[in-house]
Amino acid sequence: MKCVDDFRLRFGSRELVPIMSGGMGVDISTAELALEVARLGGIGHISDAMVQTVSDRRYQTHFVKEKTKLFKYNVANSDKSDILFNLDRLAEATKLHVGRTMDARRGDGMIFINCMEKLTMNAPRETLRVRLSAALDAGIDGITLSAGLHLGSFALIADHPRFRDVKLGIIVSSLRALQLFLRKNAKLSRLPDYVIIEGPLAGGHLGFGIDDWQTYDLRAIVTEIQLYLKSQNLEIPLIPAGGIFTGSDAVSYLETGSAAVQVATRFTAVRECGLPARVQQEYFKAGEVDIEVNTISPTGYPMRMLKNSPAIGDGIRPNCEAYGYLLDGSGNCAYITAYNREVAAHPDAKKVAVYDKTCLCTAMRNFDCWTCGHYTYRLKDTTRQLPDGSYQLLSAEHVFHDYQFSTDHKIALPPLAPEAAVVKPA
Ligand SMILES: Cc1cc2nc3c(=O)[nH]c(=O)nc-3n(C[C@H](O)[C@H](O)[C@H](O)COP(=O)(O)O)c2cc1C
Repeated sequence: MKCVDDFRLRFGSRELVPIMSGGMGVDISTAELALEVARLGGIGHISDAMVQTVSDRRYQTHFVKEKTKLFKYNVANSDKSDILFNLDRLAEATKLHVGRTMDARRGDGMIFINCMEKLTMNAPRETLRVRLSAALDAGIDGITLSAGLHLGSFALIADHPRFRDVKLGIIVSSLRALQLFLRKNAKLSRLPDYVIIEGPLAGGHLGFGIDDWQTYDLRAIVTEIQLYLKSQNLEIPLIPAGGIFTGSDAVSYLETGSAAVQVATRFTAVRECGLPARVQQEYFKAGEVDIEVNTISPTGYPMRMLKNSPAIGDGIRPNCEAYGYLLDGSGNCAYITAYNREVAAHPDAKKVAVYDKTCLCTAMRNFDCWTCGHYTYRLKDTTRQLPDGSYQLLSAEHVFHDYQFSTDHKIALPPLAPEAAVVKPA
């Protein structure tokens, strides 16, 4: 019986354990998690979502404070078109986060960064160019383009000296999205080095419609894309993602031609993950009925989350002066519209409730939007319940090795940890 360790992901002369930890913003896929995965020979993702906030928290910078001060005059104004990012400061924050992470890399694996196109930041092209270039400048091993079609993203960095040597990949959820991307980039003569195919059971935003996501199947999409690439004589490593919960799930893809797998939900239960420990316990406790796919993300993509996420219904004042990562190119965000509608309908209310959209920047920053993969309800079966009813946190190494070596859909329970090893600040 085969295990993941019988396979290798080949990138030129490099051989990697074919396990990628997926990007999880905002700093849920921390540098610590990505570094562990890389140390063990796989590919670990960090994320550049809300990188200025992440930098402030991790490296004691003051990017958010400065921005808030600059735009304080606009807080009560519903027109947010003034709220522009200072591109030099954005580059600085990205370089700091990526550079510090790369300096700490050990082992044979690689560190990639997840860049979401939907973080439009009131100037989509300019801010994305800066984020991508700064990550390249700071030595990132690879960039995964996500949450968007990214039709122009390669062109934004085509003149960067590292454009042809860094690993560049894209996340798609359909053959059509991949075809569009390839067609649009044909003139650059640079194929993606890998394609992550994300199915409907993934965490975060989904690349499917709210009414039809259940009708899609990851394996069917992977097969369709495999056949297409073969018909075009294209060899691009394919990396399925979404619902790959055991080593055996991974093997079933590797045996049928996939180059690696991307996984995330299992890593939400590890100490190195950025979620606060109290939130991790919510993930452990969840049953299947406690998870939903809804449309509260202002990005327009459906998103999977725990139904008891504090973000749902929370009618806070939009916080774009501090954050503003989802403002489109004209300074709009669907949450601002929803919030203003509720304020107009309830002029005397101290605080309104907004159920159709959420202030995703603030919610993700505060770990109040508990986005998760479909199989989150199985996390409780991957660990031990402690005498007080809580669940023992795992180590990234334990989960990585479980994917790497397990067979027959078995999941290894962690060694009984001394109490001190279980505790992580809430
Ligand atoms: C908590 C959480 C946050 C996520 N955030 C992002 C993100 O910011 N960007 C992204 O491209 N994918 C995101 N994802 C998707 C993962 O990177 C990954 O592709 C997917 O969840 C894999 O499926 P699995 O969770 O069933 O293993 C997130 C997933 C989870 C569980």
